[in-house]
Amino acid sequence: MPQTPSPQTYRVQSFGCQMNVYDGDRMAELLDAQGLTPVAEGGDADLVVLNTCHIREKATDRVFSHIGRLKRDDGTAPLIAVAGCVAQAEGDEIMARAPSVSMVVGPQAYHRLPEMLSKAVAGHRVTDTDMPAETKFGALPRKRRSGPTAFLTVQEGCDKFCTYCVVPYTRGAEVSRPFADLIDEAHRLVEAGAREITLLGQNVNAWTGEDGKGSAVGLDGLIRELAEMPDIARIRYTTSHPNDMTDGLIAAHAEVEKLMPFLHLPVQAGNDRVLKAMNRSHTVESYLRLLERVRAVRPDIALSGDFIVGFPGETDAEFEDTVKLIDAVGYAQAFSFKYSPRPGTPAATMDGQIAAEVMDERLQRLQAALNRTQVAFNDATVGRTCDVLVERQGKFPGQMIGKTPWLQSAVVSTDAAIGDMLTVDITSGGANSVFADERISVPG
Ligand code: 5AD
Ligand code: SF4
Repeated sequence: MPQTPSPQTYRVQSFGCQMNVYDGDRMAELLDAQGLTPVAEGGDADLVVLNTCHIREKATDRVFSHIGRLKRDDGTAPLIAVAGCVAQAEGDEIMARAPSVSMVVGPQAYHRLPEMLSKAVAGHRVTDTDMPAETKFGALPRKRRSGPTAFLTVQEGCDKFCTYCVVPYTRGAEVSRPFADLIDEAHRLVEAGAREITLLGQNVNAWTGEDGKGSAVGLDGLIRELAEMPDIARIRYTTSHPNDMTDGLIAAHAEVEKLMPFLHLPVQAGNDRVLKAMNRSHTVESYLRLLERVRAVRPDIALSGDFIVGFPGETDAEFEDTVKLIDAVGYAQAFSFKYSPRPGTPAATMDGQIAAEVMDERLQRLQAALNRTQVAFNDATVGRTCDVLVERQGKFPGQMIGKTPWLQSAVVSTDAAIGDMLTVDITSGGANSVFADERISVPG
């Protein structure tokens, strides 16, 4: 490959989960520190970083079609880096199939992006999918950018090995970032304007560490410490695993006012045989008992989950159990997916792979059930008074959109600015958002 002029501008495009959004922002900060200028999505950039997701098949296909479509305004290809989990899992294939890609960088190696960039500019094609012992976090720029809401990765990787999932292979084993580093990063986020912090991890509630006094703490200990920071108004965490839901974390939902009443706790399926085949290591019953314990201390908690339809061998009756579970729990939100066989995972070679039409039909039925519970949840919040943290402008002039404590998007007519915390009354609900009136405080 010939030498390329050093890129002056860049664009990072992230697909998939919130952790990829966090990683994409860190890569942007690394490139900023190299003196490159960001270009908005769709803009003409010298360097494009595609930060990819490998969790389901379509995402991988989308990466290849994206690479094919990347053109500069003058018709030439930009410098292309493929990052994220597709890079980790299929780096060699990308290099073989997509000659326009000059860098492939895995999720644990992206702090080395600047070095890779120099090599790419010198005309080399470089792959770095190491999972180095040194963590990337220490090598990232200290300066953080942030809006009113920010993500903070506290834990990465997964040791659970659900039989359908690639995450343990692409993100590696469970690793918790040190307590002190997280407090330090939280301070920097607050300085940059964050008022709400969402702690991220593939199994965020498996986070463990040692607090400032040398005592072993779990995620609840970290949450309690962050709640002491006056400028942090709200704390959230995602994604949790049922088996890591400790007594301490449940208690924090009762005791820490800044911890928002929202819990994303994937169950995946509502039938014990399917759960066992998925290697979920919890049952429907143990999941429901857990939710009861959380609801006992925080009755208004909004529940969210992930669901997979059409896992190999899933019968109609077993699928119906999932619909029943959804109705029984009354989810406020959820993500639902058709099972996608991932190469190298045990489920991909299991007997009883389900036909596409059956999966389509099940997904529709499941989403209708989720829609019902979601509408019911939003309706039930009508009449409540709560805070909304303003995040962005709405569709119409004078409208702003922010989140309620229950992570509903609330549309409010107000002259408040992004980052303001409003007190509102929820006046009506739909499937995906609520409308709310701002409470005007009366002086005197
Ligand atoms: N097929 C479909 N959905 C999957 N998920 C993970 N792996 C697969 C797969 N192979 C879903 C799970 C998980 C979410 C992040 O993605 O529901 O919780
Ligand atoms: Fe994947 Fe299961 Fe780990 Fe979640 S807990 S990341 S679904 S292996």
